[in-house]
Amino acid sequence: MRGRVRKAIFPVAGLGTRLLPATKTMPKEMLTVVDRPLIQYAVDEAREAGIEQLIFVTGRGKAALVDYFDTAFELEATMEAAGKSLDALAPTRARFGEVVTVRQQRPLGLGHAVWCARDIVGDEPFAVLLPDDLMSGTPGALKQMVDAWEKVGGNMLATEEVPAEKTRSYGILTPGKVDGDLTEVLGLVEKPEPEDAPSRLAVMGRYILQPELMRVLDKGERGAGGEIQLTDAMAQLIGTQPFHALKVDAVRHDCGDKAGFVIANIALALERGDIAPKVRDFLATLRA
Ligand code: UTP
Repeated sequence: MRGRVRKAIFPVAGLGTRLLPATKTMPKEMLTVVDRPLIQYAVDEAREAGIEQLIFVTGRGKAALVDYFDTAFELEATMEAAGKSLDALAPTRARFGEVVTVRQQRPLGLGHAVWCARDIVGDEPFAVLLPDDLMSGTPGALKQMVDAWEKVGGNMLATEEVPAEKTRSYGILTPGKVDGDLTEVLGLVEKPEPEDAPSRLAVMGRYILQPELMRVLDKGERGAGGEIQLTDAMAQLIGTQPFHALKVDAVRHDCGDKAGFVIANIALALERGDIAPKVRDFLATLRA
């Protein structure tokens, strides 16, 4: 089995049209859940899982994302001079060389975004995290996956059961042998209608993948919606390498969707001791 998972790709070049107008000038991944942008949650999760290199696949209008993990000299100097604590900035600090960025010049699909990082990933396994899938769990979803992956190797994705009428919104897998929370993946299909779906096990935005995936993506094949789909490329690896889905012990919030984004804010606010009482009191008035 090949090494450790040291690198993670964060595809952040999408247009975020479902959240317009908020995302007209603001990257979707910089939208705030409680007190930090979505990208911070994904980066924290990756670091907890032992990831050493954060690879952002960005596009036009995404500069704020890269600046966010840079040092803000003026802000820090002004705060220090005013005697204010810089503690809140701690998670935004990156080690020298920790953040690498690459551009996806046109949003040709998630598979294409991942492929744009091929030379940075090189010949080793890597993780992919979609920051708009906010995974709330302890330990984090990627840490759970890395722990499971160290036993079985190959490729792994996070899965969750969805209602039948929702299969058309996800990649859906054909399940094989089940061993606790691990299910062998025998097939993958992108956004099937409920009657065509092989199961209700949906692919969530966390993956550990082998570098051979990049060779499949080299072909640039288009799938659903004319996009280069990650699901289609992963499907081509099945049978050539081990492929598992892990039911992660985490609550997933789809923050790429308006309702999911609002729900994430409420759910995470209720987990925060400093603000939960006020939020809970307010919610109680709504039910009255
Ligand atoms: P989404 O399907 O949520 O696409 O992509 P989107 O374009 O951001 O959002 P909508 O549908 O227009 O509202 C899932 C993930 O893949 C990235 C997105 O940034 C998001 O993290 N992505 C998607 C890319 O980086 N490039 C692409 O070409 C497509």
